[in-house]
Amino acid sequence: MSARGIPRQAVILVGGEGTRLRPVTSRVPKPVAPVVERPFVAYILDNLSRHGVERAIFSTGFLAEAIEAVIGDGSAYGLEVAYAVEDEPLGTAGAIANCDRLLDEDSFYVFNGDVLSDVDLSALAATHLEKGGMGTIFLTPVEDPRRYGLVELREDASVASFLEKPGEWEGTALINAGVYVLEPEVLEMIPRGRLFSIERGVFPKLASAGSLYGYVDHGYWRDIGTPDSYLQAHFDILERQVKTAAADELGDTYLYVSPDAEVAPGARIVPPCYVGSGARIHAGARIGPLAVIGAGAVVAEGATVTEAVVQAGVVIGAHAQVEGSILVQGASVGSGSQLNSAVLGEGCVVGAGNRLAGGICVYPETELPDNSIQFYEQLRGREGS
Ligand code: GTP
Repeated sequence: MSARGIPRQAVILVGGEGTRLRPVTSRVPKPVAPVVERPFVAYILDNLSRHGVERAIFSTGFLAEAIEAVIGDGSAYGLEVAYAVEDEPLGTAGAIANCDRLLDEDSFYVFNGDVLSDVDLSALAATHLEKGGMGTIFLTPVEDPRRYGLVELREDASVASFLEKPGEWEGTALINAGVYVLEPEVLEMIPRGRLFSIERGVFPKLASAGSLYGYVDHGYWRDIGTPDSYLQAHFDILERQVKTAAADELGDTYLYVSPDAEVAPGARIVPPCYVGSGARIHAGARIGPLAVIGAGAVVAEGATVTEAVVQAGVVIGAHAQVEGSILVQGASVGSGSQLNSAVLGEGCVVGAGNRLAGGICVYPETELPDNSIQFYEQLRGREGS
């Protein structure tokens, strides 16, 4: 029998390819993609350690070494991190079972590696203890639940039904937020070494046995799996809607400018805004509101950056306008170019005088000559290439 109690251990699922977030994730795995200059999963580790977790097991596969290189043994995040690496994707349940030799015989949390939330894990664990089931899922209400697992609860908080990615749905519903507490006995329900989904293969069985419960939390929750939600996660952190270390740095002014950033006289910084180490903002440039400027990035004279993420080392030319866009590290934008709702992959070079808009994604290292794109439609054919 397992020892029931507040979990001290967690499994974090980080083996997916993150295809929907390309080109942000073309070179960097989603769990360590920078979010306000921190590897994303650091926000998860912060929350786990706030609630007494001492050991996190990363279930990795795709680009496993890249994750390990960033997170290491976890000491920088105040807990111990171990890794269980898959040779091929095992699905959400298979990936949990693959961690079994690294888990103690106690209850454990599971976190999808793309969930940004300050959910009260201690309250989730307390509900789990009180209800006494094999699993308790953190549920959050969302307005458009079609790409999530929908959950209906009975009055006693037990799960009545579990409907995975329904496709069609009208109105708000409670969804599986990708965070749960499980008892180790659940591992025995998972076949080893093959693709197996917790949402399809385990939760429905536990629910029909009356051993799965829900914990509803109305606090902050977002998954960062698409460019829109990745961008929005930055805005939410800048607006301090979610409890994070970055929120503490931003403080009541909603503004963080690294002490070694260079902001020229005559440049304007409009909060909420974050300017990283060594960034250079030239005279006449305007940054914000809702802008993250990464370490060493350059914003030349007269350029504007609004509601955008500009990662480390990006260079934005004079009088360029960047709005609602994500510029992955090392990208550059020529003078006078306009980007509206665009995503530039790592190392992309957009020449001067171009106009990109409408959700266009440009893949890493693409080079666009000066004055080559005036209308986004010309680039549409490249999307997804
Ligand atoms: P997309 O390709 O854009 O759907 O993203 P994804 O690969 O991350 O898939 P999804 O968002 O459905 O996965 C939710 C979480 O589970 C993410 O943190 C993934 O890293 C993780 N995950 C999904 N499938 C696997 C798997 O087979 N093995 C492991 N270890 N983790 C997985």
